[in-house]
Amino acid sequence: MPACPTLTTERLTLRPFRAEDLDPLFAIMASDEVRAALHVPDDFTRTQTWGSLTSLAGLWELLGLGQWALEERGSGRFVGRAGLYWRPEPEWPGVEVGWMLDPGAWGLGYATEAGARSVRYGFEELGEDVLHSVILPGNTRSEAVAARLGFTPWEERVLPHFPSAAHCIWRLDRGTWDERVNEG
Ligand SMILES: CC(C)(COP(=O)(O)OP(=O)(O)OC[C@H]1O[C@@H](n2cnc3c(N)ncnc32)[C@H](O)[C@@H]1OP(=O)(O)O)[C@@H](O)C(=O)NCCC(=O)NCCS
Repeated sequence: MPACPTLTTERLTLRPFRAEDLDPLFAIMASDEVRAALHVPDDFTRTQTWGSLTSLAGLWELLGLGQWALEERGSGRFVGRAGLYWRPEPEWPGVEVGWMLDPGAWGLGYATEAGARSVRYGFEELGEDVLHSVILPGNTRSEAVAARLGFTPWEERVLPHFPSAAHCIWRLDRGTWDERVNEG
């Protein structure tokens, strides 16, 4: 199983999570903007964030895929997470590409930059034929990232981890991605 690699993009380092990411990650999860976008309950705790962090790190151990901690290359600042994800449920569409940034780092293109590297990792390193992004309709910033990366809305589905509303499953297949990459 490949361990989580450290990768670089123009402005970001994508690196494995560390225990000391807990507090910056909790600060992001506790922000009003992220709570609203992800419907995080107001009483979501630091300990629950630890559960998320260890689960994200553990996915690499179990499946050889997962999300990265994102650091700004210039400052070393922890700005969020992005990468691949999977859940063991029949309703889950397959390997997903996802992103979450500190609101202080919104509007800089970091999610698109990390998302593009994650998509490349999914097709080239993991050998996936299709990638997905699972987004609640109305999360316009996330929809815009998916669209910029070439994903298109495919179908709406109620997923077990969020039964109160349907998510939209966005899709990008390898052939479409190859064409986009070759067009430059
Ligand atoms: C979804 C989320 C990651 C998107 O963040 P974002 O900053 O809007 O997206 P990007 O990092 O791709 O930045 C795009 C913006 O940066 C601008 N930008 C500036 N420099 C740029 C560059 N070099 N390259 C690309 N875009 C750039 C773009 O024009 C765009 O601006 P706009 O917001 O005015 O349209 C963020 O809103 C978030 O963390 N939301 C909460 C968590 C969440 O909902 N996750 C998704 C669950 S499905």
